[in-house]
Order: sequence, then structure tokens, then C-alpha cells
Amino acid sequence: VDSAAQTPAAILQGPPLDGPRAHATHKGSYGDVAVIGGAPGMAGAALLAACAALHGGAGRVFVALLDPQAMPVDTSQPELMLRCASSLDLAPMTAVCGCGGGDAVRHLLPKVFSTAAHAVIDADALNSIATDTQLQTLLRARTGRDGSARATVLTPHPLEAARLLGASAVQIQADRLGAAQQLVERFGCVVVLKGSGTVIAAPGQVAAINPTGNARLATAGTGDVLAGMIGARLAAGRPAFQAACEAVYQHGLAADRWPEDRALTAGELAAANR
Ligand code: APR
Ligand code: MG
Repeated sequence: VDSAAQTPAAILQGPPLDGPRAHATHKGSYGDVAVIGGAPGMAGAALLAACAALHGGAGRVFVALLDPQAMPVDTSQPELMLRCASSLDLAPMTAVCGCGGGDAVRHLLPKVFSTAAHAVIDADALNSIATDTQLQTLLRARTGRDGSARATVLTPHPLEAARLLGASAVQIQADRLGAAQQLVERFGCVVVLKGSGTVIAAPGQVAAINPTGNARLATAGTGDVLAGMIGARLAAGRPAFQAACEAVYQHGLAADRWPEDRALTAGELAAANR
């Protein structure tokens, strides 16, 4: 562990997201999350993120699936509101983008960057940014304009980080802390570099290395669940670095506490998170 990094333990002393809620509150107090993703064949990724956001305490969760043939309702999670991406007003929302979005998510990113109150950028949304200098400029403009007020969290796994930095995954893994900090400098966002020992880095913050989590998380969709968990915390008004540290820690903790005799699945993790 690099001496420049610390575990997020201190940050995690704050009140738990599932702690007692002030009585005179309503769903508007806990914020709206809009998940944008789910290209044909990948709807599950978006629904996992949405389910995680719902269980993470978001007031309302909308899902914009990029598959034109997608079902208008998710019967397994009736709380979710399925909408068309073009009709969503993202201004008051936290957008969670990527999540099985394929290349189609690229076309929605300018709208997300210019309008969403907060944003979590994952998976195919990161891959779109990596190959599109115009999107890179828009992302930097978003984060440069009014700093932490419009929080943006990038959640790459090592290969996605490699694409963003024009490096190889081996190079990223050889210096994970350095890679996370390079991404912070390049894009001005909070960065969550996933994998064993997830690194959380942000402008003006000492980076953190997460102590929780294990290889049972190495199953499809757990990254989508993490994106939804971060989204719920941003929607609730948590500062972005804190939101990222808390979500990463809780995501890993759930895996560490998982019953030995039962396989960890992303769907159950989404429903178990807080
Ligand atoms: N130890 C601790 N944490 C782990 C471990 C481990 N050994 N293995 C995985 N994890 C955690 C990561 O830190 C991360 O939070 O599980 C999560 C995995 O996230 P992703 O790598 O994004 O995996 P997944 O959700 O399945 O997404 C993979 O989406 O990003 C795209 O192109 C990618 O198709 C791929 C898919
Ligand atoms: Mg992923």
C-alpha cells in the first residue's frame, strides 16, 4: 500500500445511509436516479444498477433502456420507472451511465454531461469517452465549470482505465494509485479504479484504497451494482468522494459477509446493499 493512500475508514464513520431518516422527509428528499444503459441483450446490466440504486435508498429510480424493443416495465422490480432517454429531464437527477449501454450510450453523453446534476460514468460510457476527444472536452468542461456541485464519478475497471489513458491493463495494474491519480488530473472527476484493492481518488483529496471485498465479486454485473450504489448516495446529497468511498466499502463488505454456502450473484448483491 502506497504511503500516499489511506483506507476510507475515517470517511465511513458518517451516518449509515439506512440509518434513521428525519421524520419530515419525503421521496424528494432522497433524490432521483436515472440509469441509462441496456443495449439489446444487455438490459440486465441497467436493471442491476437500478435495483442497487433503489435498495441504496434513492427516492425514485428511472431506467432508460437503449434497446428499442425493451419491455416497458420490469415485472420483477415494479418500483422502477422505465422511460425513453430523450424524454428524461436529467437536470434534477443523478445519471448512472454505461451499464450494458453498448455504443448507443455515446449519443446520450453530451446531454448527460451538460444537464445531469450528478453523474456516475461506467463501462461502455467510459469506452465511448476513451475514443472520442469531443466527449473528453465536454466531460472536462462539466467538471471544470462548477467543481463539486455537479459531481462526476468515473468507475473504470483496469481495462477501461487503460483505454482512457492509452495504456495497457498491465501498466495500470503495475501502478494503480498512479493510474487513478492520472485519471483525476486528466478529467477532473472522482475516480474509482476497481479490482482487488479498489482505489478511490479525487481532486484535492488523499487517495483511498478500499480494504473490503474479495474474489466472490468476480461475477458478471457486480460493477453495475456498484455504479447504482454510488448513484444512490450522490442523489441523497453525499459529497462525491465520500459517496464513492462509502459505496465501494459497503459493496466489498457485503461480499465479505456473504454466506459461505451460497454463490454471490450480482442480483442478490443489489438487493442486499444499503
Ligand atoms: N477482489 C475485490 N473486488 C473484486 C474482485 C476481487 N478479486 N473481483 C472483482 N471485484 C469487484 C471490483 O472491484 C468491481 O467493483 O467487482 C466489481 C467488478 O466490476 P466490473 O469489472 O465492472 O465487472 P462487471 O460488472 O461484470 O462488468 C464487466 O462490463 O465494464 C464492462 O466491458 C466490461 O463487459 C464487461 C462488463
Ligand atoms: Mg463493469
